[in-house]
Amino acid sequence: MTKRYPPISAKLPVFMHGADYNPDQWLHDPSIFEQDIRLMKLANCNVMAIGIFSWAALEPEEGRFEFGWLDHVLDTFAANGLYAWLATPSGARPAWMSQQYPEVLRVGPNRVRNLHGMRHNHCYTSPVYREKTAIMNTKIAERYAHHPAVVGWHISNEFGGECHCEFCQKAFRGWLKEKYGSLEALNRAWWTTFWSHTYNDWSQVESPAPHGETMVHGQNLDWRRFVSDQTIDFYKHETKPLKAANPELPCTTNMMDLFYGLDYRSFAEALDVISWDAYPTWHEAASDGSIAAWFAFNHDLFRSLKGKPFMLMESTPSLTNWQPVSKLKRPGMHKLSSLQAVAHGSDTVQYFQWRKSRGSSEKFHGAVVDHVGHEHTRVFQDVAELGATLSKLTDVIGTTVPAETAILFDWDNRWAVNDAQGPRNSGIHYENTVMQHYRALWEMGVPTDIVGSGDDFAKYKLLLLPMAYLLRAETGAKIEKFVREGGTVAVTYWSGVVDENDLCYLDGFPGPLRTTVGIWAEEIEGLHDHERNVITLAEGNPLGFAGTFEVREICELIHAETAETLGVYGSDFYAGRPALTVNRLGKGQAYYLAARVSDPRFYESFYGKLAADAGIRRAIDAALPEGVTATVRTDGERDYVFVMNFSGREHSIALDDQSYYDLESGENVTELFMPMNSVRLLKRLSRS
Ligand code: GLA
Ligand code: ZN
Repeated sequence: MTKRYPPISAKLPVFMHGADYNPDQWLHDPSIFEQDIRLMKLANCNVMAIGIFSWAALEPEEGRFEFGWLDHVLDTFAANGLYAWLATPSGARPAWMSQQYPEVLRVGPNRVRNLHGMRHNHCYTSPVYREKTAIMNTKIAERYAHHPAVVGWHISNEFGGECHCEFCQKAFRGWLKEKYGSLEALNRAWWTTFWSHTYNDWSQVESPAPHGETMVHGQNLDWRRFVSDQTIDFYKHETKPLKAANPELPCTTNMMDLFYGLDYRSFAEALDVISWDAYPTWHEAASDGSIAAWFAFNHDLFRSLKGKPFMLMESTPSLTNWQPVSKLKRPGMHKLSSLQAVAHGSDTVQYFQWRKSRGSSEKFHGAVVDHVGHEHTRVFQDVAELGATLSKLTDVIGTTVPAETAILFDWDNRWAVNDAQGPRNSGIHYENTVMQHYRALWEMGVPTDIVGSGDDFAKYKLLLLPMAYLLRAETGAKIEKFVREGGTVAVTYWSGVVDENDLCYLDGFPGPLRTTVGIWAEEIEGLHDHERNVITLAEGNPLGFAGTFEVREICELIHAETAETLGVYGSDFYAGRPALTVNRLGKGQAYYLAARVSDPRFYESFYGKLAADAGIRRAIDAALPEGVTATVRTDGERDYVFVMNFSGREHSIALDDQSYYDLESGENVTELFMPMNSVRLLKRLSRS
């Protein structure tokens, strides 16, 4: 069965390759634009994201609009076979607006209003800001929604941040009223009897503040949910006139890696296509394995948000200028880094930015065209070569990653687990823990989705729950069903502790998972940085590997109720007590890991066994050295396999059968010689 999503734009049904383009920075010198058109074609680019911060150029004075320059850019694009993601300019506002209407500026948690400046410095609730964006977006929509060069809308830029102004306080109270119905319900959910924090009038409820309330966890959590919802609401407000003018044009906004402040999973519902900005700090260490795994996780997350191809909206063609140290990409890394996104499901490779700015804070940020202004640079050639490679990958467009493994990752869990004052305030390390588990799958080349509680688990064979601290009762029930029906689940310590209101479960942790995992977690302790314990796996245990593995930071003291003990603690007063268990339930099994094992070999052996038992297919069935991984995209008939070497060394990989075809050389291959920083693109008959 062939399964393929339609291209992101029917106008441009090939890999989109291009950059953020800011022609309004160069309007004083028209020859630059002429050069740019020539260079864009030379660089094998076909799409640009335009107008992202152009408000001042589009509306230099209140009510006076200047579209001539943008008309010229888009018409010239159309005449030259170039396309555009056209931005709404709300990511930054003109000085006249801040001066005339100070309410558009953000108020900090300390209740002080910002001055004009920077970007993303606006209130998402302000009626004036909403009105001004509606006028602007309506004008843009009326003028360009049917322009032949426009493939879609780039809404604002990297949404984020919060505002504590009076409009936002009022909106927060309205959101709470809608959610709880009554103050009594809110007080119960927030456990406000603690320290006499009970509210008896809605007007007393405020957003958290450094000089006010910060200790009511339910309140902190709801504020984060509100900020997220209010931002999504603003996004929807922006898209209304665009959709009205042409419902066919896709809308997106560029997201950021594992961004903390917004629940991207619910944001995703409002987007037509997911796009994100990836800036890996390559070449920090001898091997790029850790950084590659982190970005792989993010790519998997962004693909999973909609379960279909996404866009790499920004990346740097060479270096950034905001990281502590700005390293150049070593030979090969531009291709490897760009195709990593493709390997995980991106149908575009785009950069920030096309041409280096002459002044201001990003003048040294990498760009396709350097200050020298011509094509005879290393970076330009890297980009042009990548464009040539992408043009051979049109068949990959619309294919998906066939994941049979998933990791649960919810934003509200993340907020709650990091906010909790508990076993390890010096570092609970939730995100690192998720990565620790993901890394093992990445090293083995196991295709993985990153899912939320609301997603369907039934299509997976193996589900990982690292620190699922905030876990709704219904999610617990869904996981129990998943296991009973034959699924394998791996749950860690500090799971099933609180409900959706951040209130502790009273019937023994891990709350709604207790029956599923067959254990009761009675106590948990944090370890100091210098402390260690170990887990010793019993000889002959059904996992097929034994040994002693180091434990750091977190130890939970559990009772195996219906579960079988596979490993025990090695020291301290709880030596000999269970630390790794399995519970067989219905047709499936649920593992429970009570401590933070620090040795990566444990996770590889553990998940290697679980994946093998569950019959999970790896991208390729070959031995992969550390730092070398593989992914697969498929249309159900053909698999496109990407083998990537981030190890910092060269390797030879023996492939698992004779049927691999190298998409670049056009030859059949059985062994891959892989220099450092290299990627190979292969095709074979589908195995899914
Ligand atoms: C972000 C922004 C861009 C630019 C780049 C620099 O991704 O969206 O406007 O500032 O960072 O890396
Ligand atoms: Zn506000």
